[in-house]
Amino acid sequence: MASRNRSGSARRAAVSPAWHSSSQRTSALGGPLQKTKIRIREVEKGDASQLATLMCELGYETTSTEMKTRLKLILPNPAYKTFVAVMDGRVCGMIGTLACASYEHNDPGGRILALVTLRAARRHGIGRALIATAEKDFAQRGIGRIALNTQLTRENAHKFYESLGYERNGWRFVKQLPVGN
Ligand SMILES: CC(C)(COP(=O)(O)OP(=O)(O)OC[C@H]1O[C@@H](n2cnc3c(N)ncnc32)[C@H](O)[C@@H]1OP(=O)(O)O)[C@@H](O)C(=O)NCCC(=O)NCCS
Repeated sequence: MASRNRSGSARRAAVSPAWHSSSQRTSALGGPLQKTKIRIREVEKGDASQLATLMCELGYETTSTEMKTRLKLILPNPAYKTFVAVMDGRVCGMIGTLACASYEHNDPGGRILALVTLRAARRHGIGRALIATAEKDFAQRGIGRIALNTQLTRENAHKFYESLGYERNGWRFVKQLPVGN
């Protein structure tokens, strides 16, 4: 993603595309035996349809058109960062983050808003690489406190976050209001 400054011109991404080695020697997406490389880069408008597929795998039915509309809101806002993981030429994971001012602290905090790896590509180090990129980006922006919400039922995600040093420390309550009636 190229964030925009006040004059509307594109600013270079703070985090350059980075390569990470897959944790297995075989391609997660059915390719030939080789040491697969994971490339992490900022999201681009053209990724909308692959991001829609990822949102569906995260459990939120999403069309490409809906994803394009969401990206139009997210991409120009520099508080958001969206990174995608590309393996064997295909987007196979994403992480979306938000930097936000705090009521309780003087310094801003970071939120991980969305994280998902394609089902067929899990346990190849993609989630770990996405988190590493997001953490590096937060650190570059002077953000050291990161939080995220995850559903109680996402037990694999709990194990994943704990393996990366995240600790459970609260509960999430949700309520759906009857908006638009
Ligand atoms: C959670 C998720 C993003 C992890 O992505 P991933 O690319 O498979 O994760 P990685 O391969 O980088 O795993 C890193 C480490 O996390 C731990 N881990 C990941 N998945 C795990 C699982 N299912 N069970 C136990 N530990 C797990 C392991 O320690 C793993 O290292 P290892 O494979 O060397 O043992 C992925 O499972 C996913 O997309 N789940 C569905 C969506 C979701 O729950 N998203 C989080 C919403 S808050």
